[in-house]
Amino acid sequence: MRALGRTVGSFSRKCRSACLLRTPENGTCHQEFTYAAAARKLTSQEVFAREDKYGAHNYHPLPVALCRGKGVHVWDVEGKQYYDFLSSYSAVNQGHCHPKIVAALKQQADILTLASRAFYSDVLGEYEEYATRLFGYDKILPMNTGVEGGETACKLARKWGYLKKKIPKNQAKIVFAENNFWGRTLAAVSTSSEPTTYDGFGPFMPGFSVIPYNNIPALEEALADPTVCAFMVEPIQGEAGVVVPDDGYLRAVRRLCTEHGVLWIADEVQTGLCRTGRLLCVDHEGVRPDVLVLGKALSGGTVPVSAVLANDDVMLCLRPGEHGSTFGGNPLGSRVALAALQVLQEERLADNAERLGQILRSELDTLPKDIVPVTRGKGLLNAIVIDKGVDAWEVCVKLKDNGLLAKPTHGHIIRLAPPLVITEPQLRECADIIKKTVLSFKK
Ligand SMILES: Cc1ncc(COP(=O)(O)O)c(C=O)c1O
Repeated sequence: MRALGRTVGSFSRKCRSACLLRTPENGTCHQEFTYAAAARKLTSQEVFAREDKYGAHNYHPLPVALCRGKGVHVWDVEGKQYYDFLSSYSAVNQGHCHPKIVAALKQQADILTLASRAFYSDVLGEYEEYATRLFGYDKILPMNTGVEGGETACKLARKWGYLKKKIPKNQAKIVFAENNFWGRTLAAVSTSSEPTTYDGFGPFMPGFSVIPYNNIPALEEALADPTVCAFMVEPIQGEAGVVVPDDGYLRAVRRLCTEHGVLWIADEVQTGLCRTGRLLCVDHEGVRPDVLVLGKALSGGTVPVSAVLANDDVMLCLRPGEHGSTFGGNPLGSRVALAALQVLQEERLADNAERLGQILRSELDTLPKDIVPVTRGKGLLNAIVIDKGVDAWEVCVKLKDNGLLAKPTHGHIIRLAPPLVITEPQLRECADIIKKTVLSFKK
């Protein structure tokens, strides 16, 4: 047995006789290791090694081991402070551990966490009323993760297609845009254009087709098929590398969907909730989707909360038993989501994202074009494209060393998306870190 810190001695003795979790090589008790590590604090290297050993290798994290977050900052286990420029893939728009959201979480955790939808709870309706008023829809359907939100929207659209558009049984089609990302379930990967995402996971979901993004003629042609019930699209493609469509694209999507009697599903899981400088990204073009999917920052990064919003003519196509989730709409998540939405409004985070996004992009535009040929984004959802001659992973490692965390996507694109509570002086400091780091790669 490995030597233990004093604080875990009693656990260790108990464990010695009872533990069944010994690793084959050295007989180390897994629980004992965990307790010992917690007592004496692991180094970053030990954190990496443990995750690597016991966790599936379905991610390739940047080598930083976080143990605390507050606002725009996170800290690693050695106590080094970083600016978080990923914001947990835009789930912590309100900042890490926002006091109002955490207070709501703690308060509700003491009262009732889960009721299941077999019964009513006193919180769910309050959240539903607030959210539907805020976003201007008749109804909300609460789920947990973003991908479940997308899946729910697709089911809803198919059902609507059969009941309202009278599409013949089992023939409904949903159109998606190339390079979309809405998660990793079999339905989601069935629409993917990224081999890493779909290769090896077939057979794929029938009834899905993919057209080029930001291409109005292609959309017009696809929607002419009378068996199409929906077009699902991100107003800005986040995971694809913050791909911003041309001005007017969303208005054209709205017009074409209306003309062809097709539901427009907007996947605002990443772009929504003030990230792009408006409450919703579609607000930039003053248009309203038929079905809206939200997630991520809907709980301010505390517990998984997602939602689908639609009007009665669509939402009421689903009858009891046809869709659901044990945890969807749970009191804990509902209470937290209420607080998370209130924070977005009370702290005017859309305005902050809009104003600081402009400053960030004007700073990024000064980067040398031979290293950063393209900068793009809206609000505080931005990306820099790194020239092929420079390794974007190495840029991110250097950014980390300089106190700022960001992650490459598609090998050569770095997303820059801090929590929306960032202040102007903090943003300017971060712009300096980014500029200094990028310039250090100049040959
Ligand atoms: C646009 C979009 N939709 C859906 C999802 C899936 O969300 P989740 O990972 O919570 O399932 C993501 C995740 O990054 C996303 O960016």
